[in-house]
Formats: sequence, C-alpha cells, structure tokens
Amino acid sequence: MSEDGIVRDGFRAGDFIVVTGAGGGFGRAFCKRFGKMGAKIAAWDISEESGAQTVRLVREAGGEATFFHVDLGDAGSIEAAVAASRAAYGAPYAIVNNASIYPRASLIDMPVATFEKTLKVNITAPMHILHAFGPDLIAQQRGVIINIASGRALEGAVNGVGYACSKAAILSLTKTVALEWARHNVRCNAIIPGMSMTAQPLENATPEELIARGQAKIPLGRIGYPEDVAGLAAFLLSSDAAYMTGQGVAMNGGNVLVPQ
Ligand SMILES: NC(=O)c1ccc[n+]([C@@H]2O[C@H](COP(=O)([O-])OP(=O)(O)OC[C@H]3O[C@@H](n4cnc5c(N)ncnc54)[C@H](O)[C@@H]3O)[C@@H](O)[C@H]2O)c1
Repeated sequence: MSEDGIVRDGFRAGDFIVVTGAGGGFGRAFCKRFGKMGAKIAAWDISEESGAQTVRLVREAGGEATFFHVDLGDAGSIEAAVAASRAAYGAPYAIVNNASIYPRASLIDMPVATFEKTLKVNITAPMHILHAFGPDLIAQQRGVIINIASGRALEGAVNGVGYACSKAAILSLTKTVALEWARHNVRCNAIIPGMSMTAQPLENATPEELIARGQAKIPLGRIGYPEDVAGLAAFLLSSDAAYMTGQGVAMNGGNVLVPQ
C-alpha cells in the first residue's frame, strides 16, 4: 500500500506472461525485458527457429521461458498452445497480443482471402486468446493485457488495407475488454508504435533507408527500436499503471497521430 492508502496491483516476479510473435523484433525485446523482471514466459510463434532463439536469449540472461509453436491463423493450433502453456505455467498474469502479418497490395489487388487471413491472425486470434485465458484472469481478479496496434489504425495504410483495418479493430477490442473486465482488476491497454527497426518495415526498405527516414521525418530524429516499446510494455504491466486501462498509447518519436 502506498502513502495515499491505495493498493496498486501490478506485475510480481514469478508471474506468467504469454507473448505472441515472440520470435520477432518487438516480441523478442518484450521477452528479454520480462525475463529480466522475473517473469515466466510462454513465447509463442509460428517460426520455431526465431521463437526458440528468443527463449535461448532469455535463458542465457537468467530468465525463464518456453517456446510454444502456434499458427495464429488456425483455431486448433491456438487451443493447443493455450493448453500446453497452461500445463507448463498455470494461469497467466498477462497476455501480450503482439504478432501480426502485413500483406502488401493495393485494395483492388488485395484478394479478399488475404484480407480475411490478415484479420484472422491480427484480430480474431487475440479474441480467441482472450476467450481462452480471460476466465483465468477474471478468476484470479488480477491481470494485464497489452495489445500491439499501429499508427496505421488511425491513419490508414496505402497498400495495407487488411493490416490497417485489423489494427483499428484491436484498438476497439482494447476498449471493450477494458470496460468489461475493469471490475475484475484486469487492465487492457494498447501500444501504438511508430516505425521501428524490425523485420516488418524492413520488408519494404533497407536498414539504412529506415534510419534515414527516421532522421528526416521523425521529430525526435530517429526511428524506434524494440527496446523503446519494451520499456512501455514493462510500465503497462507494473503497479505504476494500476489506474490505466482502455488506452492506446503511442510511442513514435513525436509523430502526432490525428484520427480523422
Ligand atoms: N516494426 C514496426 O515499425 C511496427 C510499427 C507499428 C506496429 N508494429 C506492430 O508490432 C508488432 C510486432 O511486429 P514486429 O515489428 O516485431 O514484426 P516482426 O515481423 O519482427 O514479428 C512478427 C512475429 O509474428 C510472428 N507471426 C507471424 N504470423 C504468425 C502466425 N500466424 N502465428 C504465430 N506467429 C506469427 C512472426 O513469425 C514474427 O516472429 C506487430 O503487431 C506489428 O504490427 C510494428
């Protein structure tokens, strides 16, 4: 309890956290950061190679993590990963819905099946995961959900209609979960990252081009790095964020986002 007499709940060492897309840029940074904080981590990814590498890095730094293979586009695969993670670590304290896909094509050239697949991985999978683990969080009357959105949710994306729509949806999911589960002491916030040095934007540019773009266009003079976003996630897990739910927090070097 703090000086004002309010009990502020937050992450405790030994709490179990599920991270999707754990083999990717942000996912790996989340796992490394949470590992240092003393979390037990279920590192989910479709790529065994990169997910297992994340687990190795967490363990080398003295943390606790296990890789679970999952295809977030497949309901049966999600259910299997839920069951295996629960068998390993019990009920989670936190879920980080981080994985996404970003197929690029103009709206006219985007097959509807690709649009649907994007929604399946980026927004239906988080819904499925919350459906599976939500009752655990509610039963224990404590928990945190962090959804990774994108500036594309607010600005749209040329050549990324499915991605932009899915990211707008995850902001909306964030608010609904926050409203429904607040009375159970389960908080849900979204991070809205700006352009960062990970594989996703590198599909379209070289690292040098991204760095130059950041220097030219971002008010703070550089692009983001996964460690920037991991710091914000650590805050959202903590008792310092105990009074914060239903928010989309942008971290983008000062690119002001204006929904229109
Ligand atoms: N990097 C940026 O500039 C940026 C900006 C805004 C938002 N984001 C968001 O941040 C999050 C993390 O992205 P990142 O930049 O680290 O990308 P990344 O490509 O490095 O990582 C994505 C991870 O998700 C995994 N994945 C993809 N499809 C999957 C599936 N079907 N099942 C399970 N795992 C799957 C990939 O294997 C990969 O490890 C995403 O939600 C992305 O939209 C990134």
